[in-house]
Amino acid sequence: MAPSVLIIGASGSLGRPLVAEFQKHKSRFARVAILSDPAKAHKFADAQKNGIEVVLGSFLDFKSYQGFDVVLSLAGNAAMRLQPAMIDAAIAGGARHFYPSEFGTDISQDGVWQFRYFRDKVVTRDHLRARAKDTPGFRYTLMLVGGFSEWVYSGFFTGFATEKHTVEAYGYPDAEISVTALNDIVRYTVDSIFLPFQEGQSLREIRVRGDHMTWAQLIALLEEVQGAKYKVTFIDPKEAAKEQEAARQRGDEEAEILWAGKTIATAGRVTVPGPLDNDKFGFTPETLKQTMQRLFKN
Ligand SMILES: NC(=O)c1ccc[n+]([C@@H]2O[C@H](COP(=O)([O-])OP(=O)(O)OC[C@H]3O[C@@H](n4cnc5c(N)ncnc54)[C@H](OP(=O)(O)O)[C@@H]3O)[C@@H](O)[C@H]2O)c1
Repeated sequence: MAPSVLIIGASGSLGRPLVAEFQKHKSRFARVAILSDPAKAHKFADAQKNGIEVVLGSFLDFKSYQGFDVVLSLAGNAAMRLQPAMIDAAIAGGARHFYPSEFGTDISQDGVWQFRYFRDKVVTRDHLRARAKDTPGFRYTLMLVGGFSEWVYSGFFTGFATEKHTVEAYGYPDAEISVTALNDIVRYTVDSIFLPFQEGQSLREIRVRGDHMTWAQLIALLEEVQGAKYKVTFIDPKEAAKEQEAARQRGDEEAEILWAGKTIATAGRVTVPGPLDNDKFGFTPETLKQTMQRLFKN
């Protein structure tokens, strides 16, 4: 039977392209719906015109999930800590397949799962594992895609200024990074819903990436595509850690998370090690060079 899918966090940076991908594949699903706070439903008027339903309600209320098999959470950092309660509500409402808001690095790696930035994702994974044990038939999928290829030049997180051709990064030139372009991430995500689970399997990881390299290689590639030489400075990540701790001590959680964010990718914490699942899907993802050419040529 065609699955019914409910999307949480549909207005975000990942949610918008994911909803667009679902629109393209609407006929493969019994229902595709966005769960929205009634006050924010206006954000989804275009999606509604294109056949996506809008369910008005709270993601903490089990009634919001009734009639849906698969729930995808694209919660941003501020809502991430609420995912265990969303999962409980989704299960109580009858959903039996949950995609938590992962869509990044493989946080199970040593030195990554302990890192502050990923705390709420780790808590969510622990909760999913526990609920899969006590809920017959409940399954969950972790989408591990590395960094968004379009985001690796983000000024705040990685210290790139692509117009000035400078990088000031808290990290190391030989640190590695895995990336996937957003258009490919949403294709993998929608297609993954149709990949079968093995008998008795409750946790499934989908490990995909469009490219993988060191920061030194990435900068060289950017220089080639932009035809410009970069002024590159790598700063010891301990300096960012000091700022993170100072923010924690003054109770500024937002700054604490942002400073933690500055050393995620450039210190080698955004990688998706193999074995990869790319070959389970019928397309070839964009390489990082292709993404750079799309973003920076001309
Ligand atoms: N790998 C990468 O490079 C990369 C980059 C970016 C994101 N990601 C991952 O992708 C996932 C989605 O991130 P995103 O950037 O799309 O997130 P986002 O744009 O910050 O927000 C996603 C959604 O969260 C909702 N939200 C935020 N605060 C909320 C609250 N207090 N209560 C209810 N809803 C709230 C927002 O809804 P409203 O604003 O409509 O309320 C929005 O639709 C996350 O897991 C993130 O870690 C990965």
